[in-house]
Amino acid sequence: MSNIPDNFNQIDRWKTSMLLYESALKSIGTKIEILNNEFIHVYGHTPIEHVKSRLKSPESIVKKLKRHGLEVTIENMVNRLSDIAGIRIICSFTQDIYQIADLIAGQKDITVLYVKDYIRQPKPNGYKSYHMIVTIPIYLKDGPVDTKVEIQIRTVAMDFWASLEHKIYYKFEGDAPASLQAELKACADMVDILDAKMFSLNQSILAGGTEEKE
Ligand code: GTP
Ligand code: MG
Repeated sequence: MSNIPDNFNQIDRWKTSMLLYESALKSIGTKIEILNNEFIHVYGHTPIEHVKSRLKSPESIVKKLKRHGLEVTIENMVNRLSDIAGIRIICSFTQDIYQIADLIAGQKDITVLYVKDYIRQPKPNGYKSYHMIVTIPIYLKDGPVDTKVEIQIRTVAMDFWASLEHKIYYKFEGDAPASLQAELKACADMVDILDAKMFSLNQSILAGGTEEKE
């Protein structure tokens, strides 16, 4: 980072911050794994397809602070950015998303700072996903430090759409031709239809009692 770290004190703060974010990812990752295992144990299936986590790179942190007109400091990074630590949970059905979100929010040591529900209110481009910004206490030698994590929850179909949209967005530097944007929007509508159909198909399989255990 341009002015990070410029002295030993800052090096220490930077390392401590990154340690906190990394630990928060591990901690929430473990919680999700436990919930998933409990589902397998109780119901014989899991609503979670897979989980990805990532720490934002120093380059992306600097870019985002600058984009928001903020000075590049550790203070601003910690106080103003909410997505240094990010976890993405991919599940099978839209209904699973809300169930998982409730289970996460219900954990005693997790505090939900805010939620952005882009499923009930998709972005104009068609983007759908459920975002939660939470904090979790990380216990260092001097005591607990509440650490922010961005949790994104979406279906496989929503994730497929978001990956391609992301690729197109970067390829055209945010200025994709209108025809491509219209096609993406049409695909987003197909994602809705697919998610609804897969859900009802699954419901009828469950009603028939023919679901196979994985
Ligand atoms: P960012 O500055 O992009 O982090 O946005 P934000 O802080 O206003 O929060 P928001 O909840 O809108 O977006 C957070 C994250 O969701 C982004 O970093 C992306 O990972 C994802 N996201 C949001 N909008 C879109 C979108 O239109 N397309 C795709 N592919 N991903 C999106
Ligand atoms: Mg982000």
